[in-house]
Amino acid sequence: MPSLHRRCSWLSLLVMALPPPPPRFVLRGSQSAVNTLHFSCRSEADSPPLLFSGSLSGLIHVWNLQTRRVDTTLDGHAGQSVYWVKILEGQHLLLSQGRDLKLCLWDLAEGRNAPVDSLSLDSVGFCKGSVLTEGTQGCWLLAVPGKGMDEVQVLDMPSKTSVCTLKPEAGAKAGMPMCLELWKPPSGSGPLLLAGYEDGSVILWNVSERRMLSRLSCHKEPVMSLDFDSGRAKGVSGSSEKVLCVWSLDEHHSLKVCRTQELTNPGIADVAIRPDGKILATAGWDHRIRLFGWKQLKPLAVLDYHSAAVHCVAFSDPGRPGEQLLAGGSKDQRISIWSVYSQT
Ligand SMILES: *[C@@H]1O[C@H](CO)[C@@H](O)[C@H](O)[C@H]1NC(C)=O
Repeated sequence: MPSLHRRCSWLSLLVMALPPPPPRFVLRGSQSAVNTLHFSCRSEADSPPLLFSGSLSGLIHVWNLQTRRVDTTLDGHAGQSVYWVKILEGQHLLLSQGRDLKLCLWDLAEGRNAPVDSLSLDSVGFCKGSVLTEGTQGCWLLAVPGKGMDEVQVLDMPSKTSVCTLKPEAGAKAGMPMCLELWKPPSGSGPLLLAGYEDGSVILWNVSERRMLSRLSCHKEPVMSLDFDSGRAKGVSGSSEKVLCVWSLDEHHSLKVCRTQELTNPGIADVAIRPDGKILATAGWDHRIRLFGWKQLKPLAVLDYHSAAVHCVAFSDPGRPGEQLLAGGSKDQRISIWSVYSQT
């Protein structure tokens, strides 16, 4: 009789050796590199689950995940690369940000497909905006790269009233903001902002006080993407380097590195933590999507489907019964849809 221990390790070897499943399906037809993805599966029962994608050609595609086809194509960025799309749940409102230095607001109710408002941006970088939905009806907070090279601007929306400009003190040399994440601590106090910068640091800002609470130098290269699990007060960031950095916030709102994870190849374009806090996905320049257990950063799978750099990863929003989906968008113009570890 082999010992239980030996049987277990044999089993885990077997599991490791199994190739990961192929994509559930692939969305083709964006006809341009896919820069950004956002699911909207939570809307009314009669509306199909949707996936929004923004492309290098400047178009936004609205994919119906039941028919696996494009329902609507939105053209509002003058042919300039769209690098952020986001749905404001329950409001039929879509936000898109493009290299035409415009942030467009679309009302998609009743089949409409023209922007209803827009905001001029001053930053020429690729820093995506971030939104925080406020308790009060229809109001939300928006963070976008600001006028000054190292600034982040926070606005009250939809009124477009400026709330504040966040700028590291003179001499901080943080460079341009590269990625933003607005969030509200569970304690119920005011909004905070995590921003990744060109110099490789992550800064935590108190938006109400316009004050830097903490700064962590976690990368040697610009921070390409970050995501934050506010329940565990733990976040993750990636850069062009060969390493993922996991950091946490202590009770004094000080950022600390928890661990760094060495990767096989350099270059992380995007990171996403699944809303249930169980899985982390990374989008690799090496054409691969990697999955990790979020708690221990245990490598779970390498999804090897794309034939060019993966630019973005997104998880479906929770709340709708059924499968949890992961989408990856690539320079190869395809969007892969995966059903992974829905049972865990
Ligand atoms: C942020 O500033 C507000 C206003 O001063 C304060 O009430 C809140 O406690 C601060 N939050 C943190 C995390 O420091």
